[in-house]
Amino acid sequence: MIYLDYAATSWPKPPEVLKAMVDFLERAGGNPGRSGHRLSIAAGRVINEAREAAAECFGSGDPLRVIFTPNVTYALNVGLQALLQPGDRVVTTGIEHNSVMRPLRELAKTGLDLVVAPCDPTGGIDLDALRRLVTPGTRLVVANHASNVVGTILPAADIAAISHHAGALFMLDAAQTAGVLPIDLKTLDVDLFAFTGHKGLHGPPGTGGLILGERVDVDAMRPVFAGGTGSRSEREQQPEILPDKFEVGTPNGVGIAGLAAGIRHVMAHGIAAIRSDEMALTAQLCAGLTTIPGVQIYGPGSPAARTATVSVTLAGKSVSEVGWRLDDEFEILTRVGLHCSPATHRTIGTFPEGTVRLAPGLATTPAEIDATLRALSAIARG
Ligand code: ALA
Repeated sequence: MIYLDYAATSWPKPPEVLKAMVDFLERAGGNPGRSGHRLSIAAGRVINEAREAAAECFGSGDPLRVIFTPNVTYALNVGLQALLQPGDRVVTTGIEHNSVMRPLRELAKTGLDLVVAPCDPTGGIDLDALRRLVTPGTRLVVANHASNVVGTILPAADIAAISHHAGALFMLDAAQTAGVLPIDLKTLDVDLFAFTGHKGLHGPPGTGGLILGERVDVDAMRPVFAGGTGSRSEREQQPEILPDKFEVGTPNGVGIAGLAAGIRHVMAHGIAAIRSDEMALTAQLCAGLTTIPGVQIYGPGSPAARTATVSVTLAGKSVSEVGWRLDDEFEILTRVGLHCSPATHRTIGTFPEGTVRLAPGLATTPAEIDATLRALSAIARG
């Protein structure tokens, strides 16, 4: 089997991730921050260490500003709903996932002033056009770090500078880039950084987080969810301290233990090395695809301008037929259709049919890319 669906979730998970999850349940299975006994303290320690690992991985100075969430969609929703008020102006881009577009469209029903900066057909953004749209007084700019459909990497530091120049905060959706591109939040100057645990960080599903930068006024944000935290239990109001203001109920300790092991795994491997290997696989894949008659590749031409996520269509074949034949005849696993991102497919001109998405990752080999190219040639021939 050849797994080319890393953009949906990474697989297989590193053995350390599985071991950390079993260890958590066997040795640290208490409720962290609640009871004072040894299993509770052990669970709390695992979660604190995970917070430190996430802060270190992304260059955030303060682990307490790392808020764990069940996935990146929750992280984005928490940030948006905690921050935004009716009447606020928010600028986003034409390559956003529904994890951004749907919460923004919901907020627009209650008075949010939502502006979508168009992207070009490769998913790239015109920074001058964006600058014109991010008018003084804009509250927030939200952008994808890389498209989950075509891999296009947006210039996060430039978008941050445009946002800050207008007095806006900048939120980055790093669903496709956490663990895939080297990220330093201080250099990028991101204010709200949303990440998932189960893709490039190689943790389990059910993990993710939101990292709040120093520019974010936490006191001015409202808790989106409220409930037990184990802290300030004498009060019926949500604590103001971080991360408790935004982390309620018993956390996913077993998942967070796995996430910490995943983060340590990619950091030990070296995220720059992962990036370099994935660029080589992308270059090999795209070069081979250009030789197959009828294949159209979407996204930027240069592997340096994209992640290892490559969308294609085959002339005369539906994307579902191609995806099904790749799986059924060749045991090659891809994702076809709209990838929860109709905005991107409108931008690249593939709405409503979508594309076949080939997304190699950490364990993909050059031989597997060659086998995929042979399979696609055979499908293209008949
Ligand atoms: N957002 C994930 C994807 O692109 C699930 O497939």
